[in-house]
Formats: sequence, C-alpha cells, structure tokens
Amino acid sequence: MSPLREVLINKKTNINPIWIMRQAGRYLPEFREIRKKNQDFIKLCLNETLSAEITLQPLKRFDLDAAIIFSDILMVPHGLNQKVQFKKNFGPLLGELDLKEISKIDDVDFVQKVYPVYKAINLVNKNKLTNNKSTIGFVGAPWTLLVYMINKQSPKLNLKDNFYKDNFLINRILIILEKFLKIHIKNQVDNGAEVIQIFDSWAGLLDEKDLPNYVYIPTLNIVEYVKSLNIPVICFPRGIKNYKNYCEIVKPDAVCIDYEVDPLKISKEIKIPVQGGMDPKILLTDKENLKKEAKRYLDIFKNHPYIFNLGHGVLPDTDPNMMDYLVKMVKDY
Ligand code: CP3
Repeated sequence: MSPLREVLINKKTNINPIWIMRQAGRYLPEFREIRKKNQDFIKLCLNETLSAEITLQPLKRFDLDAAIIFSDILMVPHGLNQKVQFKKNFGPLLGELDLKEISKIDDVDFVQKVYPVYKAINLVNKNKLTNNKSTIGFVGAPWTLLVYMINKQSPKLNLKDNFYKDNFLINRILIILEKFLKIHIKNQVDNGAEVIQIFDSWAGLLDEKDLPNYVYIPTLNIVEYVKSLNIPVICFPRGIKNYKNYCEIVKPDAVCIDYEVDPLKISKEIKIPVQGGMDPKILLTDKENLKKEAKRYLDIFKNHPYIFNLGHGVLPDTDPNMMDYLVKMVKDY
C-alpha cells in the first residue's frame, strides 16, 4: 500500500508521507514554459496529455508520495455550462448563472465536457513515476463552489452584499452540485484516483450558525459518498475556526489544516489523521528556518498519523530548491 494510504487507512504513525498543494504550478519553470504557450487555463486543464505531463512534473524533481491531478475545482461550474475564465492578476471570473440552463444539463453532457480530466488521471496512474504513490483526485466543497458560482469571483474578504438574496437559487445550486460532484468523483475514482481531497477554501467566511446548512450537511453527503466507494477522503475546511466540531460532524478520513490554527491544539483535540499546516511563506525564507518550522510540525505530530503538506498552496515565488530541501528533510526525519 502507498505511504499516503497507509496513514489514511491504517493510521500509521511511523511514516510521514509528503505531498504539497499546488505542487504542480507556477513556481516550476517547466510549468511556466507550458503555461506561456497555453494562455487559456480551462483549455489547458482539458488537454489530457499536457494535464498529465504537468501533474508529473513535480514527481520528476522531488520524491513526493502523491500526484494530484492538474485541474481545478472550477471545472465543475465549467461542466455545468457556467462560463469560467482565469484573468491574469485577478483570478477566476465566472459568467452569468442561469438556473434554467444549468437545470437542463444531464450526466452525459457534464461528463462529455470534462472527460479529459478523467483521461489525464488514467495517464498519470499508468505512468511508472506514480508506482507506490497515490493519485489524488479532488473536488471543491459545495459551499466553496456555491461561493464562486454566485459571487462570480474570489470573495477575498467579503461576499457581495446580495449574495444570500435568492434562497431558492442557493438551495437549487446546492442540490445540483451534490449530484454532479458525486458524478465527478466517481469518474475520477473509476480512472484511478485512490484518494479524494475536498477543498473548502471559503469555509472561514461563515459564522458558526451557518455552518450546518452550507458546510456540514452538504459536505457530509459528499464524504459519505466517497466512503461508499471505499476511497479515503481528506477534507480541507480552510479557515474554519472549530476543526474539532467539523471533524466530529463531517467525519472525513483525514483533515487538512490551514496555517492559522495552532497545530499543538489540533494534535490534542483531533484523533483522525492530520495533514498540512505549515505556512507556505516559510518556503520564501531560508533553509535553516524552513528546517526549524517543518521539524516543529513533525515533532508535534510525532505520535499522530500525519501527512506533511502546507497550510495552503505553494506560492509562485517559491524557489524549487527550497521545495527539494523540504521534501528531503521530511523523508530523513
Ligand atoms: O494542487 C494542485 O497542484 C492541483 C491542481 C489545483 C489547481 N487548483 C490548479 C491551479 C487544485 C487542487 C486547485 C484547487 C483550487 N482552485 C482551489 C482550492 C484550493 C485553494 O487554493 O484554496 C481554488 C479556490 C481554486 C480556484 C482557483 N484556481 C483560483 C482562486 C485560481 C487563481 C489563483 C492564482 O493562483 O492565480 C486558480 C488558478 C489555478 N488553479 C492555478 C493553478 C496551478 C494558477 C493558474 C496559472 O495562472 O497558471
């Protein structure tokens, strides 16, 4: 069994598998090279040969324990026929959200639109670089996708004033998302995804009282579905204040933590395997500091099933040599 699955399934504490969110991305010159020639990000994600190649780029350089498929959580709104664009220095920009149009989409239309994602997973999984490593598939959590679909851009600090105005729309979209996220997960698993991560990047925008409706219930439905496929599921409710409550209610196989929470508190409160935590900005400092910080997480989780990762995606300004140093250091720990 791959080290990642050993921790997720058998709760091993004597190994620390490592993979990094956004491990394939702009900090790698070989990615920037491909990106330069492929200005349309959605098209790039739908090119199965290039998507597989990009996914494997970090595995050629570093001894990582998993490949995470090069795609995006916004491929789901794209598959539902909402326009998705990525603008330079702005981030995602989504088009009009037409409930009537979205309600017309069936499974066949959706799968046809995002099919190359599944083919890319298949290619990655067959490549010898992923021998004894896990291929990770992923989705955005219903809440985070709802945020993008209604807000139409990253909410940065706040949602638009009229975000909650149309309750009917919100409830319909959550139901539609549940259906298509399950389809998206099933197809990723059928093509070789051995672990699923659910990204809830905007969980931290909600007050405690709104978590049941928007985060707990919709995510629990997805988590239970992944478990029914016999696939371990990692949840990343970024910025949620109470990780303990979240884990007790949503019950993922592992929880990925952000860099604002105290890892010591987490290690005491949470029994399930933990992933991540270290601030990506540490990679912008020096090796000594990097070693000290990485060791702090490894020490705290010494007797806990722990997967090394960051508390958010690796930053574009990161020096690949720092990543190399980090991976080697975690392996030698
Ligand atoms: O982790 C990986 O290496 C796998 C690939 C992956 C991407 N996006 C590729 C990507 C994954 C798992 C995601 C998830 C994702 N996408 C999330 C959840 C995680 C998080 O960051 O909170 C979110 C919120 C998105 C939506 C999204 N996609 C945003 C906000 C942006 C723009 C931000 C930026 O860095 O410019 C993207 C674009 C994106 N997705 C890039 C990559 C490598 C950068 C594209 C580029 O310009 O080259």
